Amino acid sequence: MMGWRIQQSRFCFWLFIFLTLLSCYTFVFMYISDYGNSYDHRMATTNTKTEMEILMEQITRLYELKDKDIQELTKCFGLALNISVPEDKDSLMVTYKSVDMVSPPMPHFDFFTFLPHLSPHQDSLRPFVLHSRGRNAVSIVFGIPTVRRKKQNYLIQTLISLVNNMNQTEQDDSLIVVMIAEVDLEYARNVSVEIKNRIPDAVGSGLVEVIAPTPGYYPDFSKLRITLGDSEDRVRWRSKQNLDFAFLMMYCQPKGSFYVQLEDDLVARPQYQALMKKTALQSIADGKEWFILDFGGLGFIGKMIKCSDLPWLIQFMVMFYNDKPGDWLLDGFVNTKVCHLGKNHVDCVKQINSIWVKQNEAFFQHIGTWSSLDGKKQLLKTHNFYNKNI
Ligand SMILES: *[C@@H]1O[C@H](CO)[C@@H](O)[C@H](O)[C@H]1NC(C)=O
Ligand SMILES: *[C@@H]1O[C@H](CO)[C@@H](O)[C@H](O)[C@H]1NC(C)=O
Ligand SMILES: *[C@@H]1O[C@H](CO)[C@@H](O)[C@H](O)[C@H]1NC(C)=O
Repeated sequence: MMGWRIQQSRFCFWLFIFLTLLSCYTFVFMYISDYGNSYDHRMATTNTKTEMEILMEQITRLYELKDKDIQELTKCFGLALNISVPEDKDSLMVTYKSVDMVSPPMPHFDFFTFLPHLSPHQDSLRPFVLHSRGRNAVSIVFGIPTVRRKKQNYLIQTLISLVNNMNQTEQDDSLIVVMIAEVDLEYARNVSVEIKNRIPDAVGSGLVEVIAPTPGYYPDFSKLRITLGDSEDRVRWRSKQNLDFAFLMMYCQPKGSFYVQLEDDLVARPQYQALMKKTALQSIADGKEWFILDFGGLGFIGKMIKCSDLPWLIQFMVMFYNDKPGDWLLDGFVNTKVCHLGKNHVDCVKQINSIWVKQNEAFFQHIGTWSSLDGKKQLLKTHNFYNKNI
């Protein structure tokens, strides 16, 4: 009996020692793992992990879209199409005709049901690549649609601002795709040559690519339905713009992890690429379910979307291109995605804000005075750009 008591108290003693050592060890271990590493290192690990996750998501999405289609897509969109355009117009047309047309180019997007004029010539979904070094697998793809303007043109100024406000690391991790949304190929070539002359390093390194749609992509704009009571000119302008956006997104979709749409008349703040990437990775690491990270303000400027999410938006824009302007379609898309019809407007706004996350600071400021719709003045500015003098 006595012996058992002694044994029991000895057992308790050793148990006590063991537990004390164990908690000290645990504490020290937690301390080392939590604070021994620098904050930056932990951030970097989280970001790398999140980057891998995003990459996996995108790869899975691409895989789902059938790998055969992917091969087709890579062949069609950019990689193989590295042609230089000769000077005179006749040979330009010859080059254009002789471009190796593989069909059908993007069969996993259904454009043909909604743009029936495409069915007989499916090659019309192929871009005309004026310049590409075939860069892909970047973190952020920036898409800039541009059209011919009667008044001032800010495209070059915009590109210079975008390039100069990135350092080398950011440049190597980005792709800027300029889409000259005009069917006049001579004009497109002129703009492309000007871009090459003005920012030769950015074009040469493959950071900047220039594409144009093939003329057959557009439907007969004189046969559009007049919608929302707008003028014929306005309906034509906004419908074409929607198709331009969809085409550009479709080209950019397989080339990176995140897609950001911009316009051809803006300036950027320094380090915008690194800051956007960090915000995106951080909010994914935090488990937030966002659809848009909004670094802009007006219209489509600075809206970041995961490339793996883009197919839904592309398809939506093609389905309703004739019905509403693009920014309304974006609103409508997000609304359809999260709003509960049985609940009130306040709840809807709350749901929308949870997946359309507006950042406190705008990274881009609009500088144009004239809209690409002839004669329409566009003076709106975002109020939260870091430099109030622009
Ligand atoms: C594109 O063409 C240029 C010049 O002909 C060449 O230097 C470059 O390597 C090509 N790029 C690809 C991806 O084929
Ligand atoms: C560019 O900026 C990022 C973020 O500020 C930084 O991590 C990176 O080291 C910089 N790269 C160069 C080449 O200066
Ligand atoms: C293209 O540039 C040439 C030479 O500068 C010019 O003569 C021509 O009018 C331009 N074409 C278009 C469509 O802008």
